[in-house]
Parts: sequence; structure tokens; C-alpha cells
Amino acid sequence: MLLVACAAGGGNAPATPPMTAPAPAAVVTGQQAYARNCLSCHQADGYGVPNMQPAITGGTWVQGEVRALALFVLTGGFNSAERKESDSHNVMPAFRQLPDAELAEILTYIRQKFGKGASPVSAAQVADARASLPAAP
Ligand code: HEC
Repeated sequence: MLLVACAAGGGNAPATPPMTAPAPAAVVTGQQAYARNCLSCHQADGYGVPNMQPAITGGTWVQGEVRALALFVLTGGFNSAERKESDSHNVMPAFRQLPDAELAEILTYIRQKFGKGASPVSAAQVADARASLPAAP
């Protein structure tokens, strides 16, 4: 006799979130990886910091072509040609040290959250962009 099983037939019972254990440390979600690598500059809401880091929310990069986005995040720098000099005083760092899978998680996360649900990014797409770069120094 399993008493816990009766929760399933609860009729009008309010839906309570299941008690799940925290994800194991090895599984890094896009949100966690964004928090670790990007949030300090672009902020949790993706709006950045005026005169320091641009907003990524709704920008052409975040919802644009996957390869261009992956290359930009891998190499950093000043890649946004349309950006006015006065918009940003910092330099976007390069993220070549992050593995393909983690970058794919981050890019998928920012495209879903800040890029109007743009398509997810696979590790293979990041690997492909990375392979087109000159060898790391
Ligand atoms: C040290 C601060 C800093 C960190 C950390 C940082 N960025 Fe940036 N990011 C910038 C700056 C500055 C720019 C503007 C570069 C330019 O175009 O001149 C930028 C631009 C961008 C853009 C283009 C925005 C647009 O629409 O023009 C994207 C996308 C982006 N960053 C994603 C990321 C992601 C993803 C991470 C984490 C893996 C990250 N950034 C971490 C500073 C940062």
C-alpha cells in the first residue's frame, strides 16, 4: 500500500512543484553558465550597464545568425559595427576557454531569454565556428 500515490488523483488539489534534488554539479545549465560568465557585465535581465556594457536583450546579435554570434562570443572585442562609440566603454572578453557544450548552453539560453525565442544552439555549431578560427596562441 503506497500512500504517496494518492497525490496523483487529487482532483482540485493545487499543483505543488515536485521536490527535486538540486542538479548535480557537473550539469551546468545555460542560466548557471550565463550567471558565471556573462551576468556581471550584461546583468540578469540582459540590459547591461549604461556606458559600460550594452544590452543584449533584443539586439541583432543575440537573435541573429548562430555562427556570427558564436564567433563573436568566442573572440570578443568590438564586433558590433552598428554600435556607437559612446554606447560602450568596455571590451567584450573572448570566451575561447569555455567548452563547446557550455557555450552552446549559454547561447541557447540568451537566445531564448533575450532573443525572442531564437533557435537553440548546438555544441556542434559552436565547434564548427571555433574550427574556423586561427589556432589559439
Ligand atoms: C567584461 C564585461 C563582459 C562580459 C563578462 C561579457 N560581455 Fe558581452 N559584451 C561586452 C561589451 C563591452 C560588449 C560590446 C562590444 C561592442 O560591440 O563594442 C558586449 C557585447 C555582447 C553581445 C553583442 C550585443 C549587441 O547586441 O550588440 C553579445 C551577444 C554578448 N556580449 C554576449 C555575451 C555573453 C554570452 C557573455 C558570456 C559568455 C558575455 N557577453 C560576457 C562586455 C562583456
